[in-house]
Amino acid sequence: MPGSLTIVGTGITLISHITAEAQAAIARADKTFFLVTHPLGEQWLRQLNPNAESLARFYTPQRERLDVYRDITDHVFGAVQAGHTVCAAFYGHPAVFVMPTQDLVRRAQAAGYPVGVLPGISAEDCLFADLRLDPGALGCQSYEATDFLARPRRFDAATPLILWQVGVIGYFQVVDATLDAAKGLALLEVFLRRWYPMEHEVIIYEAAMLPIGEPIITKVALHRLRNAPVTAFSTLYVPPIVPPPVDAHMLEQLGLSSIDSL
Ligand SMILES: C[S@@+](CC[C@H](N)C(=O)[O-])C[C@H]1O[C@@H](n2cnc3c(N)ncnc32)[C@H](O)[C@@H]1O
Repeated sequence: MPGSLTIVGTGITLISHITAEAQAAIARADKTFFLVTHPLGEQWLRQLNPNAESLARFYTPQRERLDVYRDITDHVFGAVQAGHTVCAAFYGHPAVFVMPTQDLVRRAQAAGYPVGVLPGISAEDCLFADLRLDPGALGCQSYEATDFLARPRRFDAATPLILWQVGVIGYFQVVDATLDAAKGLALLEVFLRRWYPMEHEVIIYEAAMLPIGEPIITKVALHRLRNAPVTAFSTLYVPPIVPPPVDAHMLEQLGLSSIDSL
């Protein structure tokens, strides 16, 4: 009973985002576990693999999310230890903001099991497409929102800024009705106003989760961020204020007269 682990992403938009290799891994595993955002996703995964098991039951109200992740890791790793060919499918990209993935990989590798992680389309990939943002143009900064506030760094207001989990700032429990998103957003608004003008337009973004859906793109002036409509699936995009200035001396050393062609 050798046991192995393959972790895959199902993408953000149901069915249409999954890669052929992820789909094959889900179908051929003798134990497939999954965490997806829509009930239709469950149906679809059970069609791919009739024995597929949802991990959603670990998300009971009031629990610390960290405890949930630990239970998920123990449960999935238990199946690997029992000798199964295991596939764990997470929505989006499985290695982007998915804590159980990091823990599972560490544990399975340390125990000598074969481990694979297959990429998927993340929320940030969708944002690049829907907001027509090319990170190659001016660069891109991407942070988890609570971490961004709690560990202030020397970020650059002249470079595009993406903040994940803006709907759950400072909130570490399983999301339920007690969540007051406005409190965290107000703190973020105050922090960002040190760097951006109060009328600076920011975007609350939610990629379509169903193939028939449309992305939700809500533009708000920064000073109204605290009252912006957010969910646990919202990502904030803050456009740069001005392009970073060009270093003429460096251009000369590079033998360039301009960088407009980049
Ligand atoms: C736990 S992370 C999961 C990210 C996921 N693994 C990925 O690859 O995109 C949850 C955060 O991802 C972002 N996110 C998830 N679904 C999204 C969507 N449909 N549109 C925009 N952002 C989304 C939000 O910032 C949300 O708070």
